[in-house]
Amino acid sequence: MPTFPKLVAFRLTSKCINDCPYCYGPDHNIKDLTLKQLKDLFAFLKTNKVDAVLLTGGEPLLRNDFKEIVRELKKNNFKIFLDTCGYNFDKYKSVIFKDIDVLGLPLDFHNKSYRQHDNVLKILKYFKNKKVRPVVRVGTVVTKDNFKNLKEIYKTLLDYQVDIWKIYQFLPLNHNAVENKVSLNIPMKKFNAAIKNLDQVIGGGFKVLVCRKRDRNKAYFFINSDGSVFVPVYGKKHNDNGTDKILGNVYSRQVLSKWNKLVLEKNYITNAESTFQYKFNR
Ligand SMILES: C[S@@+](CC[C@H](N)C(=O)[O-])C[C@H]1O[C@@H](n2cnc3c(N)ncnc32)[C@H](O)[C@@H]1O
Ligand code: SF4
Repeated sequence: MPTFPKLVAFRLTSKCINDCPYCYGPDHNIKDLTLKQLKDLFAFLKTNKVDAVLLTGGEPLLRNDFKEIVRELKKNNFKIFLDTCGYNFDKYKSVIFKDIDVLGLPLDFHNKSYRQHDNVLKILKYFKNKKVRPVVRVGTVVTKDNFKNLKEIYKTLLDYQVDIWKIYQFLPLNHNAVENKVSLNIPMKKFNAAIKNLDQVIGGGFKVLVCRKRDRNKAYFFINSDGSVFVPVYGKKHNDNGTDKILGNVYSRQVLSKWNKLVLEKNYITNAESTFQYKFNR
């Protein structure tokens, strides 16, 4: 019998207030599930022994019912991970502190941003010296605009108490990211050189993870905000932009067998263990 993965990524909404030039997020017109549909979905995932849910989007904190959603996830005993640009953080601060296990925030430059830069730094400052708080993971997408500034970003992060810095190779998949491919993409060689360059300065402080195209290949069980399941798939050729391969509706039986055949277990497990510090019972 094909089984559900322990950790699923869920796009809580397809909507976003930002328009980051590199975004490979969803088409904003995808309809989001209602709270009632989410309650049914979470109960279904629990019955199928899913253990942890990453909330992403779009921008998950745009949902007015975010507190109720988290309450429902907690009721089902899920571990909860959240990726947000920090929008509406103040509104949901207490629930984030209390119930989120791993919080992902973006920082693409040391001194400016495509989105919410000052707000992200304000949030990181807020976390400083708090004994009980989520694991904080900061993400940087490396493009032509910032590949020369990684050291500055690293040094900026040293002033805060982040736990993980995850450096993403820019992937030109989906709308904005494809449209801006020429202006943002850097060759693999340059990306690797920028990472190598960092070795000279990195000396502890937090864990540094690097995510290249090959690491993201078939590494997720994604549920879209409308309940369809997809997996990011990338070919071997360097110019392959990849695709979000749709497997069907989350309730359909075939989805699981398709996912179990498609997933690259090593990538899935490595990502879950490093990015979300998820521990599998083996
Ligand atoms: C799609 S966003 C959704 C959550 C939230 N709105 C945010 O910006 O963090 C999730 C993360 O995907 C990453 N991301 C977006 N577009 C990307 C791209 N083209 N290549 C690599 N990573 C990307 C960014 O790190 C972003 O923080
Ligand atoms: S990366 Fe996040 S904040 Fe930026 S446009 Fe995409 S979903 Fe919105």
